[in-house]
Amino acid sequence: MRIDSLPRFRLAQLPTPIEELENLTRELGGPELLIKRDDQTGLAFGGNKTRKLEFLVGQALAEGADTLVTAGAAQSNHCRQTAAAAAKAGMKCELVLNGQKPDVPNGNLLLDQLLGAGQHWIERSQRSAKLRDLSEQLQAQGRKPYVIGVGGSNGVGATGYVVAMLELVEQLRTLQQRADHLVFGTSSGGTQAGVVLGARVAGFHGQLHGLSIDKGEPELKDYEKEVAQIANECAEYVGSADRFSEKDIQVVCGYLGDGYGVVGELEREAIRMMAQCEGIILDPVYAGRAFGGLIDLIRKGVFQRGETVLFWHTGGAPALFAYAKELA
Ligand SMILES: Cc1ncc(COP(=O)(O)O)c(C=O)c1O
Repeated sequence: MRIDSLPRFRLAQLPTPIEELENLTRELGGPELLIKRDDQTGLAFGGNKTRKLEFLVGQALAEGADTLVTAGAAQSNHCRQTAAAAAKAGMKCELVLNGQKPDVPNGNLLLDQLLGAGQHWIERSQRSAKLRDLSEQLQAQGRKPYVIGVGGSNGVGATGYVVAMLELVEQLRTLQQRADHLVFGTSSGGTQAGVVLGARVAGFHGQLHGLSIDKGEPELKDYEKEVAQIANECAEYVGSADRFSEKDIQVVCGYLGDGYGVVGELEREAIRMMAQCEGIILDPVYAGRAFGGLIDLIRKGVFQRGETVLFWHTGGAPALFAYAKELA
């Protein structure tokens, strides 16, 4: 393992806290609930992308890049975090955004603008082509772009969650706590890939449940393969001999509601419960859906009294403000 010698640009306040969710544990009457606060990574409202970006920006700087280029939806947390990382690293940032450009920017989009990122609006289907074209245009202008794929989910980005698992295991040891299960939202796969490899590397024996934010049963096998592939790419990058197949990846489906980014009763209840029982703010797209799924699994008896479940809060709360109509 060579994590300590990999290029890394520090962005995050680490370790993020682990808290006991005593009120929610009582309210739900099931397992003991813990939360890992990666919404508190400290960079422009935090989130899981800060950890990935430490290694992605490290690599970009090592290659002599001066501009980060990435893509996402209008309310992308990844784009907002990339814009902030670029600002901190003294780089420029160009964002390829899909969705409707609003007259008045709100939530993450407002932050992208305040952080000084350039915006390039396209249809979702044109994402890859636009990333390629934009990169070529920037090079023609004498800039040195570093293109980060959607969600920063490749072997380099996932390294952030290998480090996070080493951090978690150390924290649990110090707190004399155990976690039988980890539950977190999964979408572009980099977080889960890093968690799965990190669990192996750190000797963590609890079960790992990625709750799917945007894929259903029909896409499940392909997604699990994709996550295993990112984990293998990451293992190679960090110099670990571990290798994975889709059998090592557990993705929970069944909580898509009306689709990606569409807030339903599941997310509304989860956001309200977490806010009103614990004073912690979830987001409408990822952590809200993932925690809604966890509440349902507890009610169905999948996780039971006597067990400890750690919910990994992956951030995203700035998007709440763009969902005021659905949440108020
Ligand atoms: C707040 C939040 N949580 C979870 C995820 C999912 O992480 P990953 O894309 O690494 O699967 C994302 C991805 O955009 C996110 O923004």
